[in-house]
Amino acid sequence: MEDNNLKFDIVRPDPESFLQSARSFGYGLETAIADLIDNSITAKATKIHITYGIDKFTSYLRIEDNGIGMDEKQLLTAMKVGSSNPNKLRQSHDLGRFGLGLKTASFSQCRRLTVKSASDSQSVSTKCWDLDLVEIEQDWVLLRGCTDNKSEEKLGTFTLDSKGTIVLWEKLDRLLESEESNLDKTHFYRKFENVKIHLGLIFHRFIEDEGIVITVLNESVRPLNPFHLSLNSPSSELQEEQLSINGKKVTIQPYILPHETKLLKDEREQLQMLRGWTEHQGIYLYRNKRLISDGNWLDLNFRIKENQRLCRIAIDIPNTLDKEWQIDVKKASAKIPDLLRQRIKEICIVAIEKAVKVYTHRGAYLKRKGSQQGLIFFWKAKLKQGKKFYEINVDHPIYKLIHDNLGPGSYLFKDYIKQISETIPIALIVNDFSDPRILMKEPFEEAHLELVAMYQSTLKALIDSGVSKQNALEQINQIECFQKVVLKPYE
Ligand SMILES: Nc1ncnc2c1ncn2[C@@H]1O[C@H](COP(=O)(O)OP(=O)(O)O)[C@@H](O)[C@H]1O
Ligand SMILES: [Mg+2]
Repeated sequence: MEDNNLKFDIVRPDPESFLQSARSFGYGLETAIADLIDNSITAKATKIHITYGIDKFTSYLRIEDNGIGMDEKQLLTAMKVGSSNPNKLRQSHDLGRFGLGLKTASFSQCRRLTVKSASDSQSVSTKCWDLDLVEIEQDWVLLRGCTDNKSEEKLGTFTLDSKGTIVLWEKLDRLLESEESNLDKTHFYRKFENVKIHLGLIFHRFIEDEGIVITVLNESVRPLNPFHLSLNSPSSELQEEQLSINGKKVTIQPYILPHETKLLKDEREQLQMLRGWTEHQGIYLYRNKRLISDGNWLDLNFRIKENQRLCRIAIDIPNTLDKEWQIDVKKASAKIPDLLRQRIKEICIVAIEKAVKVYTHRGAYLKRKGSQQGLIFFWKAKLKQGKKFYEINVDHPIYKLIHDNLGPGSYLFKDYIKQISETIPIALIVNDFSDPRILMKEPFEEAHLELVAMYQSTLKALIDSGVSKQNALEQINQIECFQKVVLKPYE
């Protein structure tokens, strides 16, 4: 009976439609798995094993950790949708926030979520949400065990420790359209291809610094540090800066990656990560030690540009600043707080400018020598009627020498050089240069002896043409490509 005297009604969400909408929060497979790993790490797990597969019965994903686990009461609360208030003060190491992750991340990928947990070997309990059952019962029916033996078998027992948690996803309908077709199986496995790289990136600090071991199908996930701090050719670290908001510390550390040509093939591939160097430029936001944003300009309205690709900026925030940074449920996006925006923007601009310089001036050996003034180059960059082009330098002493020696036949040489100038394959070069998979050769990289021989024969030709030795040496020592010879004094 309705009570008309009351000023309110209690309107409970319809479980089926609520869960259906919770399924479309926009989690990707990697983000969903990462959310479960957050829970394991918060529960102090040191080992997290992920397995998945598809057999003739069903598809599944299983994550086992050796964390502190939950007793039955805790597990019951954990399975509740919206198990904690997002405004609750969390412990500083806690990677959770909304009390939703376990459920929303799981339901974004599967229709059945079973969790088995043990806070000690005496108190093992299992709970299961099956969306098909919720749909039939039209109520929040949480099972007190597995739905059937096959599930039980997949869930298995604890293999890492007597305590811990096992999360099992079944009926992975977002990864598999039908469980029968063979074609779908290949697609199913393909969808997991990037999971390892993604986890290696998001959790690299835990793997590197805390020794947490994450395995996927028994293979360890390699930590993927986006800043490349190797001893061989490390990134340059710009000045670290500490800002504060509401009394809480935010640390900003910009890095300029070394130019690709300075790296080994393996290193270049690693830094390419998921989307390539250019797409991974920008801010890397860490909440506690967990990566939230893997390289983009957040809401700074900077464009992604090819020549900024060496710029990567680490920003560290504590979990007490979630509100200010507007961390979303998926822990995949954030906004820069207004109070910090201007300063962060300035720091980014300085870093970008430096990164662009490193990217554009690759002639490191020239720079090492100091000033480039007084050098004679083979190429000249010119601007005519607003259009930029590159031309072979016809004032070059070697050009002049050849030209003069040729006498009446020199027009052919002149035309030939002009044709070379006009047809440099700029588009091809730019394309290759910007492709991180392609290693570009430096001028005379493996031909030092040849260069020394050229130096000698050019010197001789200049002297033969009537130039004094002193004068010839002066000229030749200014030629760009001979700098490598000049640096090692020529006898
Ligand atoms: N692997 C796990 N080990 C121990 N406790 C867990 C685990 N996963 C989830 N929990 C518990 O369930 C709760 C709810 O998890 P979740 O829905 O992801 O929300 P949140 O992480 O925001 O708290 C967690 O706060 C934690 O107490
Ligand atoms: Mg969580």
